[in-house]
Amino acid sequence: MASGEASGSEGTASVDKATASGSRDPQALRPHAEHAFAAELAALARQDDRPRPARWKLSPWAVATYLLGGTLPDGTAITPKYVGPRRIVEVAVTTLATDRALLLLGVPGTAKTWVSEHLAAAVSGDSTLLVQGTAGTPEEAIRYGWNYARLLAHGPSRDALVPSPVMRAMAEGMTARVEELTRIPADVQDTLITILSEKTLPVPELGEEVQAVRGFNLIATANDRDRGVNDLSSALRRRFNTVVLPLPESAEAEVDIVTRRVGQIGRSLDLPAAPDGIEEIRRVVTVFRELRDGVSADGRTKLKSPSGTLSTAEAISVVTSGLALSAHFGDGVLRPGDVAAGILGAVVRDPAADRVVWQEYLETVVREREGWTDFYRACREVSA
Ligand SMILES: Nc1ncnc2c1ncn2[C@@H]1O[C@H](COP(=O)(O)OP(=O)(O)OP(=O)(O)O)[C@@H](O)[C@H]1O
Ligand SMILES: [Mg+2]
Repeated sequence: MASGEASGSEGTASVDKATASGSRDPQALRPHAEHAFAAELAALARQDDRPRPARWKLSPWAVATYLLGGTLPDGTAITPKYVGPRRIVEVAVTTLATDRALLLLGVPGTAKTWVSEHLAAAVSGDSTLLVQGTAGTPEEAIRYGWNYARLLAHGPSRDALVPSPVMRAMAEGMTARVEELTRIPADVQDTLITILSEKTLPVPELGEEVQAVRGFNLIATANDRDRGVNDLSSALRRRFNTVVLPLPESAEAEVDIVTRRVGQIGRSLDLPAAPDGIEEIRRVVTVFRELRDGVSADGRTKLKSPSGTLSTAEAISVVTSGLALSAHFGDGVLRPGDVAAGILGAVVRDPAADRVVWQEYLETVVREREGWTDFYRACREVSA
């Protein structure tokens, strides 16, 4: 069921107040961005003296600094959340201050969801007004639904109405998020056209409408490599400014992203910090980039690419599982044997075709490379 539907629960009867979804649980496995980085957001808010658009918690400049990282006048360090071209973030933030919505587009694992969450957290202080797009997303998930017990007992009324996250964002002047927009059936997507162009959501059953108040905007994400999904209609596309998130431009940038995220995830999972993981991280990133680009790093050997996307996100999860392996079953140092199985699993999605690609890569590139003997052996062991 889409996140917007309250499935007849209590307390969501009006659009006036957000439900408990935005509250903080110290036991949460994955706290929302606005809680995980509450101290940074508070420091930014304190020291930000630039003009803020209506209902924004921070100025556009401070939002960009929150995403890209920096040091504040009082010395507070803001960690970078997104590693990539500054201009991309500036355009994304600026779009949210206009009357156009923001569409983050890119191949899988380029941080679309991640950036969308952090933007909503920094702009509105709440990243939870979220609709998850699927092939089964109904119109109610974007507009509103009904609490049927109340509807039957008292007829249509404000009390019986269950607002969607988008409706709540409109009423409160907040940022709404729609994930995987192009997975949503075209006619349901089109519900967004009126919302985005007229900034209003009619409720014909009550003879009313909910008008968006200032501060409302919407961030959608879409994967440009999903096959067999719905296109964005041109009418809807015109309501969005599209920002394409690129793959990391260099191996160094990608190593940096993986190291940072693995550190954060490791801390949240209580994994001990690995002292010398950087060698293996470099290796994972090199393997992924070479296979993704279809050519070895020195440009000399042409390679076949496997069927799956070897994204930064996958590199992060291979290294994280490697760290867990080394912490629980190894000596706490990330070694070739800890990442080999993860790499194999990421590369070989199609057991027949990808296995050939992998074997060829192992024998032509990995085997010959200086200093990679241990890694070659570890890979051979798990590939056998
Ligand atoms: N440039 C980057 N800067 C910081 N983190 C990144 C970057 N690229 C990828 N990541 C990390 O990759 C992980 C996955 O990103 P995310 O889930 O947002 O990808 P996505 O683009 O939404 O993918 P999908 O299309 O599969 O939904 C996140 O943990 C994010 O931190
Ligand atoms: Mg995503």
